Amino acid sequence: MAGKLWGVGLGPGDPDLMTLRAHRLVSGARVLAYPALAGAQSFARSIAAAAIAPDAREIVMDVPMTTAREPAQAAYDSGAVDIAAALEEGEDVVCLCEGDPFFYGSFMYLFARLSDRFEVEVVPGVTSIAACAARAGRPLVARNERLTVLPGPLPRAELKRRIEGAEAVAIMKVGRHMAKIRDVIDALGLTDRAVYVERASLPDEMICPLSEAPEKAPYFSMILLTKGADPWL
Ligand SMILES: C[S@@+](CC[C@H](N)C(=O)[O-])C[C@H]1O[C@@H](n2cnc3c(N)ncnc32)[C@H](O)[C@@H]1O
Repeated sequence: MAGKLWGVGLGPGDPDLMTLRAHRLVSGARVLAYPALAGAQSFARSIAAAAIAPDAREIVMDVPMTTAREPAQAAYDSGAVDIAAALEEGEDVVCLCEGDPFFYGSFMYLFARLSDRFEVEVVPGVTSIAACAARAGRPLVARNERLTVLPGPLPRAELKRRIEGAEAVAIMKVGRHMAKIRDVIDALGLTDRAVYVERASLPDEMICPLSEAPEKAPYFSMILLTKGADPWL
């Protein structure tokens, strides 16, 4: 009988924010899979490290950091082949996913490649948005307010237009787009409504008003913006 593929959300970084189910699955896994960006250590693996059995087999998908989609898709193609081989041998495979697997998570590429042939189950995780709001002490949305989630790589004009039309905003994937995002928020006169959160829940976490944020932001950073009067008052 073929094994089962698990897409396991591990939360935003602090291993203590893994769910009990995620911890149980990772601890019992004989085969693990995870992406590693551009040859760097896998963030997902680092979250789960203490729970991984020393003799577990690890399938690493080396995903290049390019704007072109094809090289990353090739990495998922070849990862899916290795995972399928393990599943066909009857092994369950636990795929490690930072945050939640289906919220901007790369697990969806494996899901698309394998879920028609194998049993796949997704275990939800604490998303980075929830973690950033919690660590910043900023409720995200109240009553009938709408939350708009925007990726930082959006073109400047689109970013501006979408922030203008939004109520509460979370801007993800800040990284090298920091200067552009800051300019847009400044031009809209909203800098004093924005908070910057870097590596939420990790020991080197940083949280500050956007006006005091560093010029260079790492990939694991986010900007939260509330436009209306504080809706929770
Ligand atoms: C590809 S998305 C993955 C999101 C993830 N699946 C989730 O559920 O949060 C990566 C983006 O999530 C955000 N992110 C993830 N972890 C974070 C953290 N600990 N602190 C701040 N932002 C984080 C950053 O904006 C980063 O660029």
